[in-house]
Amino acid sequence: MTEQLIKSKKRVQQHGEVFTPKKIVNLMLNQAELQENLRDLSSTFLEPSAGEGAFLTEILRRKLKIARQISASRDEYDENALIALSSLYGIELLEDNIELLVMNMIITFSNEYTQTVMADFTAKADDGITRHVIDSAKTIIRANMVHGNALTHLDDRGESLLFSEWQLLPIKRGVRKVQRILYTFDAVLDQGNAEATVQIEQPAYEAIDLFADLFEDDEPKQPKSEKPLVQYVPVKLTEVYKELVETIGE
Ligand SMILES: C[S@@+](CC[C@H](N)C(=O)[O-])C[C@H]1O[C@@H](n2cnc3c(N)ncnc32)[C@H](O)[C@@H]1O
Repeated sequence: MTEQLIKSKKRVQQHGEVFTPKKIVNLMLNQAELQENLRDLSSTFLEPSAGEGAFLTEILRRKLKIARQISASRDEYDENALIALSSLYGIELLEDNIELLVMNMIITFSNEYTQTVMADFTAKADDGITRHVIDSAKTIIRANMVHGNALTHLDDRGESLLFSEWQLLPIKRGVRKVQRILYTFDAVLDQGNAEATVQIEQPAYEAIDLFADLFEDDEPKQPKSEKPLVQYVPVKLTEVYKELVETIGE
């Protein structure tokens, strides 16, 4: 099958959109100086003009192969596969490309992961654990593949691009949990300067008051700044799909 490397002349002129052929992606990823990072599951890769994921999907495939080689049990593989995935980040400007990027990452993870657990650990494609791992992978992919402008560091509403760090916590009573922390892209780039590293606690939801209209005049509206701040609750990697949050400062 021939690869489509260009969608239109206009898109090439406006956005420099030319996709990299698979052969070139492999040649570039085979460079000797990249091999140590590709073998290290938690070594971070960021593609600031990710397109449909030509590089990120191949890096994911290679890292999942390493996860498979070093895992002695299904539990270990589940964790290692998600650690590998959580180290990959992308930024893409165009809406149709970011949708394809997310979809391609999900398909790559799901296919590789399901094939491995079925072949190596006699798991079923639709068992509960497989579903939890794939749901967690989808959460990680949707957080790590960011829609926005890598040059201005802003999204299409003019807000700072946000990235999630999936910080592995020390193993306690045999269980390793992960702490999801949000950072602005500026803070990520300014990592060397600890003072400038800003942690964002974002309300993941806003409670809806069904009776708000009835009592509108009785109680003054809560100013925006008094909304409770929340942070993600540390959970096992296979449970990040739950996106549990807790209020902070109480
Ligand atoms: C040359 S293509 C490369 C895509 C992919 N890396 C590949 O090798 O197939 C450049 C991509 O960057 C995106 N892009 C252009 N300007 C951008 C910007 N300021 N921020 C983020 N993405 C951008 C385009 O939409 C396009 O998908």
